[in-house]
Formats: sequence, C-alpha cells, structure tokens
Amino acid sequence: MSVLPIVLWPDPRLTDTCVPVEEITPEIETLAADMLETMYAAPGRGLAAPQVGSTHRIFVMDAGWKEGKSDPLVCINPMLQELSEERVTNTEGCLSIPGVSAEISRPAQVQMVWTGLNGGRYVQSFDGFVAACVQHEIDHLDGIVTFDHLLSDEREALIAEYHAQ
Ligand code: NI
Repeated sequence: MSVLPIVLWPDPRLTDTCVPVEEITPEIETLAADMLETMYAAPGRGLAAPQVGSTHRIFVMDAGWKEGKSDPLVCINPMLQELSEERVTNTEGCLSIPGVSAEISRPAQVQMVWTGLNGGRYVQSFDGFVAACVQHEIDHLDGIVTFDHLLSDEREALIAEYHAQ
C-alpha cells in the first residue's frame, strides 16, 4: 500500500465526472487500499477517487476512527436513493481544500446503496455527520466540491481565504 499525493483545488481533475467500476480487479483493490492509507495519513475521514487523480466511482470513509470507533468503508458505485426533506447545516472540510471549512446545508438523512470490495451490494441509512460525509464524497465523484454549494458572495470570500493562506 502507498500514500498517494492528494489533488488540491482548483486542480481541474476535481471537476471530472467519474466512471462506474465494471469489475473489481486487483487494480481497484490496490486503489481502495491506497485511498484508505492516504485518508488515514492526511488525516481525514473520507476520500474520493478524484482526490488521488482517479476517475473510478469509489470513495473511502471512516467517520469515527479519530474517536477510536474505526469502521472503514470502501464504497464502489455509490448512489443515494432516499434523501430526507429535513436539512441540516454542517461544517465541512475537504482534504483537497486544506485550511478552509464551509457551512453546507444538506438533507439530514440519506440512504445509500453501494458495492463493497467483495462485490456485495450494501444498503444503509445514514444520519448526522456521516450523512453529510457520504454526500460530500459522492459529490466528488460528480466533480462537485464544497465551494459549489455556496452562494457567490460566500464562495468568493472563502476562495479568497483559501488563496490567502
Ligand atoms: Ni472533500
């Protein structure tokens, strides 16, 4: 396994729409392992393929590892199938936009379906911080970053803050 370089905004690779994974090959297994290692090294709680320069529809997440509740997930071809009408605002950081966090409003609960590394199909509902995390990571697979959720004034102010570091 290796720690991969993280692609930083405004690298155009972060705007790519990723392509579904057709088959779980050894290359995909290696990518997933490297992504987990890269996420832990960063250190972060979630990392999507475009952040390491890949265009496969994969993200990795371990929402609770910093609190000693490690539960690593490799989500291949993830899709949201139920989103609550209730919305909540969370403070979101991103490993590709270091040093800056954004207040993002999203559905409070979501149900996600995905394929695991073993080829199994999973369905799970998420709420709280983890719900925001899965939506943030799926956004990356569609070329969307936190800045894209903000109104233009807020977006420009935060981009200025990012560049001023
Ligand atoms: Ni991110």
